[in-house]
Amino acid sequence: MDDTGHRGPPEPLDQSPSPPAAPHADKPYRERRRLDQLRSAIHDRLGPGLANLQLRLELLEEATGGTGAIGEQIAHLRSEATDLVRELARIVHDEPPEVVEREGLLKAVDAACRSAERPGLRVGFHVSGRPRETGRHVAELLYRAVLEGTANVARHAAANHCLVRLAFSASHVTLQVSDNGHGAIQERALPGGSGLGLASLQQAARRLHGEAYLQSRAGAGARLVVKLPLPDGPRPLASGGRKKRGRG
Ligand SMILES: Nc1ncnc2c1ncn2[C@@H]1O[C@H](COP(=O)(O)OP(=O)(O)O)[C@@H](O)[C@H]1O
Ligand SMILES: [Mg+2]
Repeated sequence: MDDTGHRGPPEPLDQSPSPPAAPHADKPYRERRRLDQLRSAIHDRLGPGLANLQLRLELLEEATGGTGAIGEQIAHLRSEATDLVRELARIVHDEPPEVVEREGLLKAVDAACRSAERPGLRVGFHVSGRPRETGRHVAELLYRAVLEGTANVARHAAANHCLVRLAFSASHVTLQVSDNGHGAIQERALPGGSGLGLASLQQAARRLHGEAYLQSRAGAGARLVVKLPLPDGPRPLASGGRKKRGRG
């Protein structure tokens, strides 16, 4: 346990060993091929369904005129569906999330925190240290982790407060998504959950020579931690990623 009483890193969430590679297999080639297949599958299997959802929401939005409580909700859902369709195209073309590319990491995280808020759940965001350029893959993973972490708080924690923290040091950036809910009941997925979110974050963090884990204390909340190394040397933050101070 650390000073806040949270247990340390749990056992790896992904415990399935990957099959040994053939000694002469061309690993980068196989990895690229696997990613291409994954992108095609995402495109073919999710694309039509999402586009259809977007279209039907557009029709509903037109029918309600986008006004009144229900009309506004529908307009909001339509806009989220449109964003998802666009995001799916970016995944297929191996581009980072649009908001991260356009606004920079800090603004993207701030926006993600705001959209994770709902009645009964406040989400704060706090930055410490000196923010600097992280490189595309680190920024993308941190953003993904904020989406996954805040979605987990909303789905699993029964919390009314969540705090997203980004801490920059000379060599690392650390993301923490903490909540004041009941803590993880078990480290594996609950029935109804996919159990893939944390495992996939953990794998992605390892690929970037970092780590990701969930700390939890029964009845006293949970904390997702993602710690990633930063590239060497000072690299000032580009204009999109202005330093942001806490919102709560
Ligand atoms: N903030 C949290 N509070 C309580 N339990 C959590 C929290 N985050 C994750 N968990 C637990 O960890 C499990 C695995 O999470 P995840 O890998 O994201 O899969 P999923 O969200 O699809 O269930 C969840 O099913 C839940 O039991
Ligand atoms: Mg999840």
